[in-house]
Amino acid sequence: MILVTGGAGFIGANFVLDWLAQSDEPVINLDKLTYAGNLNNLASLRDDPRHIFVKGDIADSALVASLLATHQPRAVLHFAAESHVDRSIHGPAAFIETNVNGTFALLEAVRAYWSGLPEADKTAFRFLHVSTDEVYGTLGPDDAPFTETTAYAPNSPYSASKAASDHLVRAYHHTYGLPTLTTNCSNNYGPYHFPEKLIPLIITNARAGKALPVYGDGQQVRDWLYVSDHCAAIRRVLSAGRLGETYNIGGWNEMANLDVVNTLCDILDQIDPKAGGSYREQITYVADRPGHDRRYAIDARKIERELGWTPAETFETGIRKTVQWYLDHQEWVRDVQSGDYLKWVEKQYG
Ligand code: NAD
Ligand code: TYD
Repeated sequence: MILVTGGAGFIGANFVLDWLAQSDEPVINLDKLTYAGNLNNLASLRDDPRHIFVKGDIADSALVASLLATHQPRAVLHFAAESHVDRSIHGPAAFIETNVNGTFALLEAVRAYWSGLPEADKTAFRFLHVSTDEVYGTLGPDDAPFTETTAYAPNSPYSASKAASDHLVRAYHHTYGLPTLTTNCSNNYGPYHFPEKLIPLIITNARAGKALPVYGDGQQVRDWLYVSDHCAAIRRVLSAGRLGETYNIGGWNEMANLDVVNTLCDILDQIDPKAGGSYREQITYVADRPGHDRRYAIDARKIERELGWTPAETFETGIRKTVQWYLDHQEWVRDVQSGDYLKWVEKQYG
């Protein structure tokens, strides 16, 4: 049995679905169901006894201790986080609460559980911490991509809180010997992505006839990875990663935001054309994000060399699947765009 935190969010839900599609090992899924957590993502597992969903906070030490004692997982995979940079600018407190204090509380509960395990289980146990490339800060146009030894230089409250959590995980390995693994991944996209993030926001706004907001000059570069490739990399690190190590995960796919938005418009023009024009006409330049990192790029050679992982999807294949998924799941989109989502759109875009 494994314990996943944040498994009702975008990447966590994809991970749980992929895991149970490939294995019969049960999953306990601990998720607070914040605005970003959505049980509809896991609807296909509703009657599946291999999936045990628990609504709760990673910072609730008593709850986490009791889940660990009852279910005796062989691994904890920690996805739960506040994850949206723009929200961290408006309200950083929740990011410190969950990403820093929550991770600390989780580590303490896991350390207590792990210390009491029989020796063989103790050796086999893993704590896998899911993190981001944003901890490394920003790159210039000619800088080499981030490696695992790039110095941390987080620039947003989100990335600073994730950096802090990475440091805690590192310390728990070095100080207490907790068998940890950390992954730092680039921007994901794919099914179940909450439409406050760039790619799903553009797809859903385009189809709703709304503005497609591009921050600043739209020349900020991100390295996009299809979410199931991220999930496969995490499974690989869990099974064969070296203890205490960090692994960068990326798609070797750097793109400027404006090129991503144009690509989405062009795919929609082909598969869901609108009357009398192109979706590109809806592109609107809006004020830039404060402290906006210019470029992220991941050097993913360590995970390829040591663990043999490479992405299966290219951006061209992954982005088409993603657009089609949103066209095929309009009810999911409608459910997500609830009152809370509307309040966010009003605050962020006016
Ligand atoms: P998300 O915001 O879609 O989902 C986060 C999930 O965590 C939600 O289900 C939410 O309810 C849950 N959660 C939040 N606070 C919690 C708490 N205190 N206790 C229990 N559950 C809580 O995020 P995501 O995009 O799926 O990201 C998952 C992880 O991957 C995060 O740690 C993030 O930093 C990391 N990551 C994300 C990306 C990306 O492109 N989205 C890239 C690299 C790394
Ligand atoms: P986002 O999906 O928020 O991911 P992150 O900030 O974690 O990289 O944003 C991806 C890029 O798209 C980022 O450079 C900000 C930009 N962006 C826009 O231009 N417009 C938008 O409305 C949003 C949400 C993001």
